Amino acid sequence: MNKQEDSHKYFPGTRDELLVQVRKSVSDKRYQHILGVEQVAIKLAELNKFEIEKASIAALVHDYAKERSAAEFKQVIMKKKLDTDLLNWNNFIWHGVVGAEIIKDELHIVDEEILNAVRKHTIGAEDMTTLDKIIYVADYVEDGRIFPDVSLARTLAYNNLNDAVAFETKHTLEYLISINGEVYPDAILTYNKWVVK
Ligand SMILES: [Fe+2]
Ligand SMILES: [Fe+2]
Repeated sequence: MNKQEDSHKYFPGTRDELLVQVRKSVSDKRYQHILGVEQVAIKLAELNKFEIEKASIAALVHDYAKERSAAEFKQVIMKKKLDTDLLNWNNFIWHGVVGAEIIKDELHIVDEEILNAVRKHTIGAEDMTTLDKIIYVADYVEDGRIFPDVSLARTLAYNNLNDAVAFETKHTLEYLISINGEVYPDAILTYNKWVVK
């Protein structure tokens, strides 16, 4: 591969260099998950006529910050003057919204569409672009995921991205409620937009 083919539009380096950085940032298990999300994101990009390269990079970085400490996330929230309500939440919320800041600083990825897809991948949003939906859904249905109805979720994903967003949103919320889990308020906005008819 020559230098031209090797260089990325969205990451200042080669794909291999990005993979090295991602691998260093997460456990082996999560790295496998990330590669699985990339595979699905590429398929979904093809099906939805979205740029493959952009979907690939967004998938590769979506969980980049997932294994950082609470102390580090809190530090970034303060340093970047993010909404201080974030301090009341946890890794599940932080690794998306705050993770995007860490990706910007450490990987020098500045494309806002990619960063927004990372920000929104955990709870979705009222407004979701095609890339937001691709990453949100790919994260849910990658080959390593095992849960009841995962094959239905996959079928929906490959047939209609909006239906897959609705399915994922509804079932994640149902699950949280079934375990008396805390629901991030914005998740309700996602539900009202994508699930309520
Ligand atoms: Fe994640
Ligand atoms: Fe993930």
